[in-house]
Amino acid sequence: MFLIIIEKFLTMGSEKKLWLVVIILLVEIKVQHCVGNPIVPCLFIFGDSLSDCGNNNKLPTLARANFLPYGIDFPGGPTGRFTNGKTAIDFITEDLGFSHLMPPYANTSGFDVVEGVNYASGAGGIRKETGTHAGPDMNLELQINNHKVIISQIAAKLGGPDKAQQHLNKCLYYINIGSNDYINNYFLRNTYSTSRTYTPEQYAEALVQQYSQQIRVLHQTGARKFSINGLGLVGCIPQAITLRGKIGSSTCVEEDNKAVLIFDDKLRILVDQLNKDLTDSKFVFVDQAMIKSENYPMLKGMKGMTNRCCKVNEKTGQCNPLEVPCNNRDLHIFWDSFHPTEAVHKLMAKSAFYSSITKITFPMDISSLVKM
Ligand SMILES: *[C@@H]1O[C@H](CO)[C@@H](O)[C@H](O)[C@H]1NC(C)=O
Repeated sequence: MFLIIIEKFLTMGSEKKLWLVVIILLVEIKVQHCVGNPIVPCLFIFGDSLSDCGNNNKLPTLARANFLPYGIDFPGGPTGRFTNGKTAIDFITEDLGFSHLMPPYANTSGFDVVEGVNYASGAGGIRKETGTHAGPDMNLELQINNHKVIISQIAAKLGGPDKAQQHLNKCLYYINIGSNDYINNYFLRNTYSTSRTYTPEQYAEALVQQYSQQIRVLHQTGARKFSINGLGLVGCIPQAITLRGKIGSSTCVEEDNKAVLIFDDKLRILVDQLNKDLTDSKFVFVDQAMIKSENYPMLKGMKGMTNRCCKVNEKTGQCNPLEVPCNNRDLHIFWDSFHPTEAVHKLMAKSAFYSSITKITFPMDISSLVKM
């Protein structure tokens, strides 16, 4: 076959030959573009349902999303992502120049784990007990243990622990966790005891302490570039209103927001401290609580918290399987009772990656972090 092509080529007129060469070059450029030339060689993702891409699919938990209408706007349909399309870290993965999104730890088949893995698990938190009333999940400690398993695979592939370390030093580590330690722990007063054990101040302190230790463990495994995400205003999610009712003139449960903002303040201070302590590393804090309509005119035009796009099971707050969701999904902030739509995920990603318009990242945005 190949010989026939060469023979044809040799007998072609020179003008035809020139065109053929041009076409081959164009195809080559296109292929190279598709293969991707990411700014960082690898990306590891830790977190909860805001980042999960299918790690809970086989777990006996209510916190699963591998059925329609979840994934209705995702190429190929439902994957386990807790939204209609892509998540914020998916958009960041694309902005980094990767040609594919990171596979879930639960199924990396067909992917090269050297390039990255997603460990995020719906309902998971910093604390072990968080979210477990819904069934088992992967808390942050388990996610880091899973990362150690992947590291040994990477070492085997790259030819030893030293080679693996050199590689792991260059990766981006994206961590977005903690919401469930409030929504599916501290705020569930009948199910968990933490609200009786800790004041909001003490709870935030205990969480950030535990988080700090886990980040340091990750650093010991070779992580050097971190994006640490603060928590969004969880008092403004539809579930908060459903559970706690509308209080006064506020559209959000301000008491819940207040508790979470204490955590965010402490986390930002931790990131500052880590930048001072671990001088071989760089940590970025992403202030997700800044993503509100006062700062983003786009959100003002969207349907807010009482308008979930899909019909939800009031007990779980998740979309009922196979029910038809709203049509104008880009005009809704919330997809189900907990999770934003793809449109809002995209907004979160863009403002964390290029933070020039609204300053939500400290001390730099993710696009600058990965160039260091
Ligand atoms: C694992 O992922 C691959 C590729 O993404 C997919 O084709 C396969 O069905 C998945 N396997 C399981 C058991 O989910």
